[in-house]
Amino acid sequence: MSTQIAPSILAADFANLQSEVEMINRSEADFIHVDIMDGRFVPNISFGIPVTEAIHRHAAKPLDVHLMIVEPDLYLDAFRAAGAEIISVHYEACTHLHRTIQAIRKLGAKAGVAINPHTSVGLLNEVIEEIDLVCIMSVNPGFGGQKFIENTYSKVSRLKELILAKRSKALIEIDGGVNIQNAPLLVEAGADVLVAGSFVFNSPDPLATIRSLKNL
Ligand code: DX5
Ligand code: ZN
Repeated sequence: MSTQIAPSILAADFANLQSEVEMINRSEADFIHVDIMDGRFVPNISFGIPVTEAIHRHAAKPLDVHLMIVEPDLYLDAFRAAGAEIISVHYEACTHLHRTIQAIRKLGAKAGVAINPHTSVGLLNEVIEEIDLVCIMSVNPGFGGQKFIENTYSKVSRLKELILAKRSKALIEIDGGVNIQNAPLLVEAGADVLVAGSFVFNSPDPLATIRSLKNL
């Protein structure tokens, strides 16, 4: 399967969300990545459930919702009802990660687990078979437009080995600082899904930029 692309709406013009979503609809993107920040798990606040619902109302692509929040269990139902197809929680925010993964799947959504740059992929050893997607953070979460952390490549390779060894179906997603320079190396290392925010939305022709990532 070719690389899947998830433009991050965090970098869009929030005053024109509908047209930004429609641009993604017309593009070759596979998902719309939706970043939820609570000002507690990360030092920034983005937007929440009503805005996710509004994005969903116009979206022709599945919503990939990335919860950068503490106590995500409290809001799984609400984000599922708002249209999330994939719900990713942070490993670092879940005391009972296995239970949270089951809860996401019970809602009929795909279960994702995001890991911060300092979190080792080996910590997913016991749950990798239960996960639909692992989101490797290639920046410290909280802000768009940050510099890609180079250690990510080796994390992707190690995660790929773990997935193959356990015969897991989990997809590997990379989030943060993705651009046309690092994208081919990430795919080579084993990435399946690339999130891109500022690289897409700050480019003169976002549709062409999405196409260039899709057709690496
Ligand atoms: C960071 C978010 C990312 C962000 C990516 O906390 O999780 O999804 O929107 O933006 P860029 O591609 O600009 O690094
Ligand atoms: Zn994200």
